[in-house]
Amino acid sequence: MNKKLRKAVIAGNWKMNKTRPEAKALIDGIAPLVKDADCDVVVAVPFTNLETAINATKGTSIKVAAQNVHFEKSGAFTGEISADMLVELGVEYVVLGHSERRQYFGETDETVNKRTIAALSAGLIPIVCVGELLWERECDITKEVIARQIKLDFFGISADDVKKSIIAYEPVWAIGTGKTATADQAEEVCAFIRSTLAELYSKEVADAVTIQYGGSMNPKNAAELLSKENIDGGLIGGASLKAEDFSVIVSATK
Ligand code: PGA
Repeated sequence: MNKKLRKAVIAGNWKMNKTRPEAKALIDGIAPLVKDADCDVVVAVPFTNLETAINATKGTSIKVAAQNVHFEKSGAFTGEISADMLVELGVEYVVLGHSERRQYFGETDETVNKRTIAALSAGLIPIVCVGELLWERECDITKEVIARQIKLDFFGISADDVKKSIIAYEPVWAIGTGKTATADQAEEVCAFIRSTLAELYSKEVADAVTIQYGGSMNPKNAAELLSKENIDGGLIGGASLKAEDFSVIVSATK
């Protein structure tokens, strides 16, 4: 990461894990281990744990994220949660367009774009996930796929708002599989994301955006990934469910 230009952000994506007491115990375990963190630390918890997480992180530097948000402000959308509801709770970040939502829940670049706009206008920081499938990498179209996602997911979003956003590069073949992209593979795509932003906006905007890597990041490989110029943090799934492992990744930003 380039610390002169950007602050590192390490976010744990808990996915559909942890009851409220388990969530409190995990946060109580993480908090003392990351109190001297050199980066922003975020936990993205299930909706049912948001209030517990907000309370458990009070007085710590850990911030709370939701794992999705609906794009309408309110209305007849059974089962959905609005950005204003999250902000009122004290949530500061939201993960959008995760590949599991794209694969299993019909998420498209159009809906990711709408959610990103809704999140930003409510004052939430979106963590927008992009990444190629294995067969797309094998067909050598990774860059086309990523450029398309960046262009569509940020369509109509101002330079100032893009600067507030975080982009997580998560190759779908590396998520939960134990297969990490090599540090060079991850850096190549993160650098490409930055050059795409420079083309769409400006170099100044591109330099300001935090780009995370995600996909089987763990205590062993984090330091090498985070040593790369264009990798400014991580979105961590499995390894974020263990306080010790998560804190080692947080320390790897130092
Ligand atoms: P993983 O998940 O670290 O378990 O691969 C990352 C993610 O899905 O954000």
